Amino acid sequence: MKILAIYGSPRREGNSAQMIDAALNAFPPKAEIHRIYLAEMKFSACGACRECKIAGECVVEDDMQAIYKEMLWAEIILVGSPTQFSDVSADIKKMMERTWWMKGELKNKIGGYVVSGRRYMESTINTLQAFMLRHKMILGGNGALGYTFTEMGTLEHDPLALNDARNTGLRLIELYELLHRP
Ligand SMILES: Cc1cc2nc3c(=O)[nH]c(=O)nc-3n(C[C@H](O)[C@H](O)[C@H](O)COP(=O)(O)O)c2cc1C
Repeated sequence: MKILAIYGSPRREGNSAQMIDAALNAFPPKAEIHRIYLAEMKFSACGACRECKIAGECVVEDDMQAIYKEMLWAEIILVGSPTQFSDVSADIKKMMERTWWMKGELKNKIGGYVVSGRRYMESTINTLQAFMLRHKMILGGNGALGYTFTEMGTLEHDPLALNDARNTGLRLIELYELLHRP
């Protein structure tokens, strides 16, 4: 079981990171887990050069190349994002744009997400779901949300957050086992 966890917040140990970690804790020890902290990667938004149309892959030489490799390696992709201005973080948006060339490459990989924020989280959820469905991924998880209640607050006032995040992990495992049943 190969899992790629993509941390989309500028805060390495922030709320969405805690939720990703709670989801990952559900996986058995034999699971291989790779982690990417987008805020620590150097990459641009899609420049619309359309070179990928000719080359069949993205030709921009930045840290997205390493992220592509990890995405292709993974069987399960788990994305965590804070809600920033009513949507995913800018790093997640940049990453999603840069996967435009990957049409078909992520097909049938299992995808899950966790989201944190105070309110206006609907678009964040929609964006992550649309990303996974556009890639024909199998959308899993249980839609874990972490409410901070105050601006840049913690998850401590939302007792369901980490539990829901763990259930996201459990649901991804369940789907994986279903798909890999002998
Ligand atoms: C630039 C910025 C914009 C934000 N916009 C929203 C927002 O529109 N809605 C919301 O609920 N929270 C918003 N927040 C708060 C974060 O979503 C919230 O504190 C989240 O839990 C942070 O997660 P993190 O610790 O993983 O970064 C914003 C935070 C920042 C830094």
